[in-house]
Amino acid sequence: MTSRRLVLTRSAALVGAASTALLLPQIGRAQSGKVRVGLMLPYTGTFAQLGVAIENGFRLAINEQGGKLGGREIEYFKVDDESDPSKGIENANKLVQRDKVDVLVGTVHSGVQMGIQKVARDSGVLSLIPNAGVHAATRGLCAPNVFRTSFTNSQPTRALGQAMVAKGHKTAVWITWKYAAGDEAFEGFKESFTASGGTIIKELGLPFPQVEFQALLTEIAALKPDAVACFFAGGGAAKFIRDYAAAGLKGKIPLYGSGFLTEGVLEAAGPAADGIITTMHYSDSLDTPRNRQFRLDYAKAYKAQPDVYAVQGYDTGLLLVQGANAVKGDLSAKPALYKAMEGATIDSPRGKWTMSKSHNPVQDMYLRVVENKENKVLGIAAKALADSGAGCKMG
Ligand code: PHB
Repeated sequence: MTSRRLVLTRSAALVGAASTALLLPQIGRAQSGKVRVGLMLPYTGTFAQLGVAIENGFRLAINEQGGKLGGREIEYFKVDDESDPSKGIENANKLVQRDKVDVLVGTVHSGVQMGIQKVARDSGVLSLIPNAGVHAATRGLCAPNVFRTSFTNSQPTRALGQAMVAKGHKTAVWITWKYAAGDEAFEGFKESFTASGGTIIKELGLPFPQVEFQALLTEIAALKPDAVACFFAGGGAAKFIRDYAAAGLKGKIPLYGSGFLTEGVLEAAGPAADGIITTMHYSDSLDTPRNRQFRLDYAKAYKAQPDVYAVQGYDTGLLLVQGANAVKGDLSAKPALYKAMEGATIDSPRGKWTMSKSHNPVQDMYLRVVENKENKVLGIAAKALADSGAGCKMG
């Protein structure tokens, strides 16, 4: 229950309507205090860099508003979720129960997101997902107070299979970390590759966040597919790219992936990444005034180049700003807040996008290739792609 409702209900029961005026200063104080923003992100482990980029992007959007939300100052609370699903609920509750945040921004890892989703559904706290693509969050377990600003796990790969077949690849091996993100990315790849006439000859996997790829790369060499498609991200992706080249596969069997493979890792991967083709809702090289300005501002603020994670964090900030402005900073005005966020058009560095009915971005997917440590756009692989939202019923 919100503090405002609590105050009104109690007061009405105890002293009646005549004294309502006496309560007004109290209401005013509750809503003019600082907005409590919780950041639950990975700051250690293979996704550490992703968490930092998301936080940077989020703060950039807020700082463009003078550091305020709907006119109110902000207080930040942070938890390192370590990409550990077994601590997901406990960590989310640190922010929701202990720190009493008004909004929880998180996270990266799909398994950890399931813990946040439970806490969000149980508590009703506003939950903004700046990365994790787990289908359930905007399908069967969707909720009015949960909004995703990133993607569903199968969205990028649904644009991948057709592009590979168009390049003449008839057979493929799929390889990933075996957890929700990899398995759901496979769903999108399988659907798009087979619908275009391709055949998947083998699915390979290893547990998250392991990076002992050698035996699997030997198996790929023996299978001799036309191409390889994969889902990896963060530190593990950089190592996969380097190991793929070191195993002698680069230049022999073209490597494809959902675009996370080549996000934030191009310095670490070096020339081994050149020529990798991916599908993603962002590209460094998007030649629009919006993207150019964003990249300049981000580089100036953080002395680093932004990637898709930075854009997702930034867009999370833009969405929250739009919502907060619509209710003049009163985040307890939930129906009006959600309505504004549902109807928002986000003027993102990735291109403008809108919210689907199940609260996931409807967005373009770009086909990209790595050249000289940059993801270069080759074209649009899918226009205004929406997730099905299957099974979502907003309660
Ligand atoms: C996820 O676990 O949902 C996930 C993690 C990293 C990515 C994309 C998806 O880059």
